[in-house]
Amino acid sequence: MIPRAPKGTDDILPPESERWRTVLRTFDELAERYGYQLVFTPIFEHTELFARGVGEETDVVEKQMYTFEDRGGRSLTLRPEATASVVRAHLDRGGDEILKVSYAGPMFRYEQPQAGRRRQFFQVGVEYIGEPSPEADVEVIEVGYRCLQACGIADASVLLNSIGDPEDRVAYRDLLYRFLDERREDLSSEAARRIDTSPLRALDSKQDDAVLEGAPVPIDHLGSAAATHHAAVEVGLRRQGIPFVAAPRLVRGLDYYNRTVFEYQAASYRVAQSALGGGGRYDPLAAMLGGSETPGVGLAMGVDRVVLAMPDVVDAPALDAFVVWTGAERLEAALAVASSLRGAGFSADLDLSGKSVRSQFRAADRRRATAAIVVGSEWDEGLVTVKRLASGEESTMTLEETQKWLKNR
Ligand code: HAM
Repeated sequence: MIPRAPKGTDDILPPESERWRTVLRTFDELAERYGYQLVFTPIFEHTELFARGVGEETDVVEKQMYTFEDRGGRSLTLRPEATASVVRAHLDRGGDEILKVSYAGPMFRYEQPQAGRRRQFFQVGVEYIGEPSPEADVEVIEVGYRCLQACGIADASVLLNSIGDPEDRVAYRDLLYRFLDERREDLSSEAARRIDTSPLRALDSKQDDAVLEGAPVPIDHLGSAAATHHAAVEVGLRRQGIPFVAAPRLVRGLDYYNRTVFEYQAASYRVAQSALGGGGRYDPLAAMLGGSETPGVGLAMGVDRVVLAMPDVVDAPALDAFVVWTGAERLEAALAVASSLRGAGFSADLDLSGKSVRSQFRAADRRRATAAIVVGSEWDEGLVTVKRLASGEESTMTLEETQKWLKNR
């Protein structure tokens, strides 16, 4: 029996992988347009990085990490997210300049798998490090929103909140603690357990909506710096035309955030784990890792979920041309035709196995090519037959004319 892929992991094969390509390309192009350069960090890290960066009390660190000991006795963990790594890399290098970077790659969390919730999942993200301005928050939120729009998710919007600065939370935490403590009996065991360790996290417990109605929320207890910052983020989002909804109980599951936190949602994606992406400002993170004070803000989109939320558009042709050849003596010519099309910037492919013309045409359909370029007896006069696969219409022309035809189709 062939071993199966582990629980919570997926093989992403064509044609579905083409949707993935759309998301990855769209995000990459947008990030580049907004001035983000690429960053690559290790897929495994010292466990301590996440314990300190993401936070000991978080679900991610407590329950979801893939931690193992390597042959040298080190405790390593497959990264559950990338922000802590990027900030570590920045601090390693001195960390005093502005760094705008984007990344794409697999992350690992031991969760109960379901649609859109995987144990190996894929994130694309940006981090804007070294910039305290609220305009940086607006820019980051905009990159994610434009990505969802460009992927055809027209009803995407942003859930926005501010959790204030750590010093704002001291008094607030007492207030919240008292509220939760009085309702301990009515809360789910999960939320009740959090009252004494991280009361803030009890706030976003979806199953406790009724009990939490009327709970004090961080945004009503911001210090003046955080309040001014938040007002500027709201003004910026309006200016950029980005729809957002206030989400006073949104606190996020990672410990490094302060001030702005946000998530992306879409009515077209109503799976239990509903955020297509999320992020926020993480000014405390650098110090949590032992570095000097360095502000930062970033976002990560869950590609598995974005792909699920994308509309089922009729798939666009995947290939410009499929070269069909007749008779073994024309293989070389067919290779030259494919090569010249590729050289001119068109995507082209062919079947090398010498199957019948009929089966080559079937392959061209399967590959969703715009045209089949037939290299047959007309090749002796330097001509090919170009057949538009959608309509069946065909004409014979030179290779140069073929390129013009493909360009103007
Ligand atoms: P996060 O909210 O933990 O934030 O994850 C971001 C996105 O990754 C989620 O909104 C979701 O789309 C996707 N995701 C998370 N877990 C899973 C899973 N098990 N299966 C499928 N998709 C998942 C972060 O990771 C932060 N590092 C974001 C950030 C960047 N904050 C600042 N900079």
